[in-house]
Amino acid sequence: MTQTAFIQKIIHKAQKDIKTIVLPEGEDKRILQAAHEVAAAKFAKIIILGNIKSINDYFAEQGWSTDGIEIIEPEKSPKFNKYADLFYELRKEKGVSKEDALRQMNNYNYFGTMMIKAGDADGMVSGANHSTADTVRPALQIIKSKKKGRSVSSAFIIVAKDQPFVFSDCAVIIDPSAQELADIAIDAAETAIQFDIAPNVAMLSFSTKGSAKHEKVDKVVEATKLAQQQIELPEYCHLGIKLDGDLQLDAAVDAVVAEKKAPNSNVAGQARVLIFPDINAGNIGYKLCQRLGGAEAYGPFLQGLNAPVNDLSRGALVEDIVGMIAITCVQAQK
Ligand SMILES: CC(C)(COP(=O)(O)OP(=O)(O)OC[C@H]1O[C@@H](n2cnc3c(N)ncnc32)[C@H](O)[C@@H]1OP(=O)(O)O)[C@@H](O)C(=O)NCCC(=O)NCCS
Repeated sequence: MTQTAFIQKIIHKAQKDIKTIVLPEGEDKRILQAAHEVAAAKFAKIIILGNIKSINDYFAEQGWSTDGIEIIEPEKSPKFNKYADLFYELRKEKGVSKEDALRQMNNYNYFGTMMIKAGDADGMVSGANHSTADTVRPALQIIKSKKKGRSVSSAFIIVAKDQPFVFSDCAVIIDPSAQELADIAIDAAETAIQFDIAPNVAMLSFSTKGSAKHEKVDKVVEATKLAQQQIELPEYCHLGIKLDGDLQLDAAVDAVVAEKKAPNSNVAGQARVLIFPDINAGNIGYKLCQRLGGAEAYGPFLQGLNAPVNDLSRGALVEDIVGMIAITCVQAQK
């Protein structure tokens, strides 16, 4: 299978510190083929959840080896009750009973997420047959945000004109407050660093440096201030994050426009992390790049969780799934 140069780089990075990724959708042939490709390329250990006999039969029919792949049938797993008990302990204050916990473990997204929580896997990729909400909710309930009280958001890596960018948030937080927008910006900068992309963050708006007045611009200006304060804190100040706003998209990425519209900005013209003011702008923005601009789009993947759980589009191709597994491995690396 042909992989883009970007995914080849990510696979190379994943190979340096092998992680275990659980794939809960073992009934889907695209997932099985992706598992086979990953195992053959030896960049992750794979756990597939599903019917052991039918998955083994399918691998045998295809002439594929199952080396590097473990197949678990949750209902028959000796750890089923252990995970249910752990889930009950974590969620009893939310009104979950022991019976609810046992029932919930029959949902493979919950079982897979509990494998991560119990330390039996490092990350999960699902969503080929589930909605974003069904994939993401167990992670929000069980794995939780890395920083207490902080929202988990999502990012895409967009490769346009051979240049990788981080776009955020295009898929999770529908209408972020100024504080949430600031947090999204910091988490996206950290995502960029993880993938060797310069953490030059533009807080996007339809205004550049006050060129337009509106409460929607005020939110971006406020978020910029809050994020600029955060990057001065000891935990961030050594990361080399540059952050500025309010910036229009052209001022953010085009040096000539930047020189005219924001000559004193340390980000304008060289932004690599684009923060959208809400999910409408973010979701439309990434799809414009992908569908009309011909850019490669990888994601959405979650950022700010204690361990990576990532969502596939239901139309995902095998190469998209392999790419997402590689991204999840890199996120799981410390
Ligand atoms: C992500 C999403 C599914 C969560 O919504 P939800 O399932 O209704 O979540 P709930 O409000 O029931 O919350 C469930 C738990 O997750 C937590 N949670 C919800 N959103 C969170 C976030 N962004 N960060 C961290 N935790 C979050 C809640 O605090 C709650 O925790 P608790 O049960 O321990 O108290 C929702 O934000 C959403 O639908 N976003 C848009 C997704 C979408 O349609 N994208 C389309 C483009 S791909």
